[in-house]
Amino acid sequence: MKENIVLCGFMATGKTSVGKRLAEILGLEFVDMDASIEAEENASIPQIFAERGEPAFRELESRMVKRIMGRTGMVVSTGGGTVVNPRNMADLKSCGFVVALTADIPSILRRAGSGEGRPMLQAGGGREDRIRELLHQRAPFYAQADMAIDTSSLTVEDVAMKISACREYIFQKGEKS
Ligand code: S3P
Repeated sequence: MKENIVLCGFMATGKTSVGKRLAEILGLEFVDMDASIEAEENASIPQIFAERGEPAFRELESRMVKRIMGRTGMVVSTGGGTVVNPRNMADLKSCGFVVALTADIPSILRRAGSGEGRPMLQAGGGREDRIRELLHQRAPFYAQADMAIDTSSLTVEDVAMKISACREYIFQKGEKS
C-alpha cells in the first residue's frame, strides 16, 4: 500500500523545505534522503563525491531507496539525481505518491547560490550552462512523477499547502494501485 509522499526534482526546487513543512502539516515523519545518507556515512555529500566518486554515492542512494520502501507514514525528500535511475523511480512509486517539484532556470540559479555543497554544479563551465544541461538530461525522468508543481513563483508554504490539499486524492490513489 502507498502511504508515503515522495518529493523529487532538480536541485534547489525546494524539496527539503517543502518536505519538512508538508510532513508537519500532515503529521507524518520527514525523511531527507541526503541527510540520512550523510548521517549513516558520517560524511557530507561533497565529501562522499570527492573521496569515493559519484557512482559510489548513487549506490548509497539506491540502497536508501530500498530501505525507504519498507516504511510508511513518511514525507521523503529525494536528491536531485535519485529518480534519474529508473529503478529508483519504480521503487519509490511502488511505496509512495511521487510529486516532482520544478522551477525555471532563473529561480534555480537564485536559490542554488554559489552551488556550494552541490557537487553536481561544480563541473567546469558556467553554472547556468551546467544547470541547463542537467535539466535537459533529467526532465524526462522528473516527468514520470505522479504530479508536478512549478515552484518558481511559489513560497514553501504555498507548495506544501498545494500538496496537502490533494491528500485525499493522493492516499486514495495509493490504495487503489
Ligand atoms: C544531486 C543533488 C543533491 C545531492 C547530490 C546529487 C544531483 O540533492 O543528492 O549532491 O545529482 O542532482 P539536492 O537536490 O537536494 O541538492
